Amino acid sequence: MSTEHEAQVTQTLERLHAADDLDTVEAIRVEALGKQGWLNALMKTLGKMSPEERQTEGPRLQGMRARVADAIEDRKAVLEAAALEAKLATEVLDLTLPAPAAPQGSVHPVSQVMDELAEIFADLGFAVATGPEIEDEWHNFTALNMAETHPARAEMDTFYFPDRDADGNRMLLRTHTSPVQIRTMVGEGAPVRIIAPGRTYRSDSDATHTPMFHQIEGLAVDQGITFADLKGTLFEFARRIFGEERQVRFRCDYFPFVEPGAEMAIDCFVCKGEGYILSPTEGCRVCKGTGWIEILGAGMVNPKVLEGVGYDSSKYTGFAFGMGPERIAMLKYGIEDVRLFYSNDLRFLAQF
Ligand code: DAH
Repeated sequence: MSTEHEAQVTQTLERLHAADDLDTVEAIRVEALGKQGWLNALMKTLGKMSPEERQTEGPRLQGMRARVADAIEDRKAVLEAAALEAKLATEVLDLTLPAPAAPQGSVHPVSQVMDELAEIFADLGFAVATGPEIEDEWHNFTALNMAETHPARAEMDTFYFPDRDADGNRMLLRTHTSPVQIRTMVGEGAPVRIIAPGRTYRSDSDATHTPMFHQIEGLAVDQGITFADLKGTLFEFARRIFGEERQVRFRCDYFPFVEPGAEMAIDCFVCKGEGYILSPTEGCRVCKGTGWIEILGAGMVNPKVLEGVGYDSSKYTGFAFGMGPERIAMLKYGIEDVRLFYSNDLRFLAQF
């Protein structure tokens, strides 16, 4: 019995040695060690043996099994190495071939609009200023003449942090870029002519609001600045960004940090201010049939704000404005859902 097994092992090892492809090796493996393999079947006979018999037969069969398994692995390794050698000997790599093109990224549409706005205002003499996105409520609200009871301060609208600054002010994610007005006036003194682009945060989310969005603030303070300067500057800006033929409309509005305050609209560049395109019964979608599109808030800096940062309001006057680049990008490119900007869909982003 045992010599018969030995012979079978020897024969298997010889066949393995002679095998010159991996398929043959695999066939031999299945024959011996597969589920129905003869060596496997032998191993199963151990279960029926008496303990004494098993003591001698066990190690012997294990040894046979190990020799066959090792021989299979060895032969496989030899054949695999030979196959690789052969491949490398014939394969020619042309290193002069051009590499596959890397996909080209593009500037995000909101960043494009912000860059464009910064360029326009740079031409008008405005420098770029920045401030922290984590603000304290003094800069974000109090210094801007926003009363303790102002609804924008509500817990449900503003992202507050649990801790306070050294003066006991609550910390928050800034709700607008207006606090940069305060930081610039405190830090630089007059005259000031800046824009402040950056990220802002509110607890708001729908087709026209995202919790994170951008604003661009503007501030000019000097001696003798009047509402005419405000109008001239913003009129020029509107024509540069929305077309030379643009008209602007100013209407009274209220923001605590300006007095008087205004909202500026441009005549609709889609329906040319008509309110409709083909038929008066179907209003223009962009201006909602009104012929006008509101694009920013503005006003003369409230003397209370100037005094609060140590300016003499009998000597200095100024104007300020704030706008949302997302809204401007949506109008310019006909985008109807602001959330598209932040869904990271390349099919959307690649269009700009
Ligand atoms: N901070 C205002 C807001 O977020 C926008 C604004 C309005 C800014 C009027 C101004 C301004 O500087 O004068 O709604």
